[in-house]
Amino acid sequence: MAGKKNKKLEHFDNDVPKIIVSETSGRGESYYRLKDNIIYSSDSGKNKVFQFESAISGEGKSTVVSNTAVALALSGKKVVIVDLDFRRPKIHRIFSVQNVQGIAEYMLGEYEIKDIIKKTEYGVDVVNRGKATQNASIIFTSDKFKELIEELKKQYDLVLFDCPPVLLVSDYIHYSKLSDVVVFVACMGVTRRSQLREAVELMKKHNDNFLGTVVTYKNTGKFSSRYGGYYNNRYYKYLKSQYSEEVND
Ligand SMILES: Nc1ncnc2c1ncn2[C@@H]1O[C@H](COP(=O)(O)OP(=O)(O)OP(=O)(O)O)[C@@H](O)[C@H]1O
Ligand SMILES: [Mg+2]
Repeated sequence: MAGKKNKKLEHFDNDVPKIIVSETSGRGESYYRLKDNIIYSSDSGKNKVFQFESAISGEGKSTVVSNTAVALALSGKKVVIVDLDFRRPKIHRIFSVQNVQGIAEYMLGEYEIKDIIKKTEYGVDVVNRGKATQNASIIFTSDKFKELIEELKKQYDLVLFDCPPVLLVSDYIHYSKLSDVVVFVACMGVTRRSQLREAVELMKKHNDNFLGTVVTYKNTGKFSSRYGGYYNNRYYKYLKSQYSEEVND
């Protein structure tokens, strides 16, 4: 998979994704559209847990989930992000909190749920991984983890999972059972058609309730405020047919 094309992503990986959504800037209108669709699809609380997935690394999942969470919070929603990317956690860096006292420590009984929830300056709460652990799949299949997610669903309007890439990490097989809706992120001009198709097929086996696809564009060098578009399911199908035709050929 380490083909030349993926080199495009390396340039971005070192930057800490930025929160561009704010009350005053009016930037990130795509995130407001996405949050409207999430609120709409949450169907007055029936769907509370949304997992943000992509085929490969660096497509913009953590950026999209973080900015969307801020847009939801600015709309008065009680939102928590749970960082389930245990190999490359990034949410703590985006929200400038410490990656300590997290899920790993909670699983060891060192802290209770209330102790691992962190407040941020954006009105979004976060739950981090905490210390590094090799037991991600054991954690995600445990009753204790299930209890954590059930408790968060009681305390929050929306629980957003920031996830690792589907084609690189198979943890989605476990935590998808605790999620209601998939938001799929695809980076235009970077993800290969075959990668997207394979990832979507794999994902559907564990959660086929797709809200839609967020298309991220990455322009060279300058941090882009135009985070591409967001479309609902109908467009997702259109995108999929489009995607398979045009990109990466
Ligand atoms: N639309 C965009 N324009 C410019 N840079 C972007 C855009 N989206 C994301 N980035 C940058 O690309 C890098 C990767 O983004 P991000 O961490 O959100 O991807 P990811 O899908 O979560 O990656 P991973 O699979 O490694 O967790 C970051 O440095 C981020 O700042
Ligand atoms: Mg990420």
